[in-house]
Amino acid sequence: MKRILLLILGVTISIHVKAQTPDWSTSVANIFYQHCTSCHHPNGIGPFDLINYSDAVANAQSIVDMVEQRKMPPWPANPHYRRFANETLLDSIEIAKIKDWVLGGTPLGNIALAPNPPTYNAGGSLLDTIHYTVQIPPYTLSSNGEIYRYFAIRPNFTDTVYISQIEVIPGLPDLVHHADIHYDLTGQSYTNDSMSITPGFGGGLVSNYYINAWQPGGNIVKYPPGWGVAVPPGADFVLEIHYGAGGAGQTDTTKMNLRFITSGINNFRAIKVGWLLNNPIPAQGPLVIPPNVITNFDQQSQQINGDKSFIAVCPHMHGLGKSYKVWFKTLSGDSVPLVDIPEWEFHWQKYYFFRKIQKVPSGSIIYAKASFDNTANNPHNPNDPPATVYAGALTTDEMLMTYFIFANYVQGDEDIIIDSTLLASLKPEGIGLQNTVFNLHPNPAEQYFELNSNDESINEVVIYNINGALINQYQINNQHALIDIQMLSAGIYFIQANCNSKTDHFKLIKQ
Ligand code: HEC
Repeated sequence: MKRILLLILGVTISIHVKAQTPDWSTSVANIFYQHCTSCHHPNGIGPFDLINYSDAVANAQSIVDMVEQRKMPPWPANPHYRRFANETLLDSIEIAKIKDWVLGGTPLGNIALAPNPPTYNAGGSLLDTIHYTVQIPPYTLSSNGEIYRYFAIRPNFTDTVYISQIEVIPGLPDLVHHADIHYDLTGQSYTNDSMSITPGFGGGLVSNYYINAWQPGGNIVKYPPGWGVAVPPGADFVLEIHYGAGGAGQTDTTKMNLRFITSGINNFRAIKVGWLLNNPIPAQGPLVIPPNVITNFDQQSQQINGDKSFIAVCPHMHGLGKSYKVWFKTLSGDSVPLVDIPEWEFHWQKYYFFRKIQKVPSGSIIYAKASFDNTANNPHNPNDPPATVYAGALTTDEMLMTYFIFANYVQGDEDIIIDSTLLASLKPEGIGLQNTVFNLHPNPAEQYFELNSNDESINEVVIYNINGALINQYQINNQHALIDIQMLSAGIYFIQANCNSKTDHFKLIKQ
């Protein structure tokens, strides 16, 4: 009897699955275009393309493995601890669709219904607008050791420029261990570079201002609208590049694309960067990691001096890193999660931008717990057999640091939503085309809504509350917009969509 029941169940399940097998054209192409092709395109950093049906079919099994293990898209932060802007995470429905599509024999479906493939910039850039590129001259590595090299680039700006977005494109992605960006007003870096026979110079860094850090897997840094870094006229950019071992004879052409703030400079807000967590607490001594064991460390910052507005957090460790969790406590005892990396990935060191600016009141202290796996089971262990590892700047040394992007707090900062619509994976055009002029769904919506335009690009999406007050404005320049509304309280809102030749309003119910 049991057997018969099982048999019947089996039959129903298989019929059910069969009836629902998702196809490329109406189901899975959308998922790949939204979450994968920003890297998996002909000039992107992914090892193969996911633009065409045949690309996806050729890699079908490996795709299922990677998405089921949640290794792709890469997003090491734990979404149950803290959510961030521009997350690249698949939900369980999307994962199931990909799996069913592969198990069901990767059907194409009706290709006429497939979305238009996205197009990407041939230079590999994901920025909409590039105002200036800091490009190092081709530099051929002369040794197999680890190399620190400084490159000075003179932009000859005659006015102050205000950087609003930064994208680093490493020339040798497997070798560039970090690229830190500074500016130097003294001219010394430029002189040092000019005196050296090969591009760049060794020795020491001369810097007036630390603009930003970049580590493997680092994403675009995009400050909130009107916020950024002011670079005075006469400044030279200095790129500090740390090359890992084994690169002799290879030529690097790392570049940094910048977008500037072009209007509203009067309201400019200067951001700062800082490694606010560094080294274990004094009771645990300096960072010394014994071999053959997993070791835990605690960290504690100085008291935060004056209210701050935190924009992003970026934890940093090397190959022995295992986990890293960061939070802060206010003077009144509230504990606020900042980021949790349960499985450290050296190759995916992202800047995690908060969805809304995080106010950190004066007197707060930042805490962290981290662990290192210095056993032979860690495939990234630089030593075989494992050996004691100390804090240091080489890849074979370790670090335990967290970098923050922040500004001095101004009343109301905590209400600023850090725009999630400029996510690289939203570039694709033509997703979800409908026969109406605009199409908005889902409605009612809880976390986000999508807006599609079937012909021209949407320039702008504006959200008004029921009293007509402007809540937020998003620049889109795409036929598809995905707007995060988790920050809105439940109620009715008016959504305005603007294209060059058409505009429309929608009533949205936020649940
Ligand atoms: C942020 C960039 C990025 C995004 C987004 C991304 N990938 Fe990748 N992917 C990479 C890179 C780089 C590699 C190679 C290095 C690695 O495995 O980490 C890779 C490797 C892979 C591999 C091969 C793994 C192997 O070693 O065989 C698969 C399969 C894959 N990606 C699928 C996907 C799918 C499916 C998506 C979307 C759901 C996706 N990726 C999104 C950058 C990305």
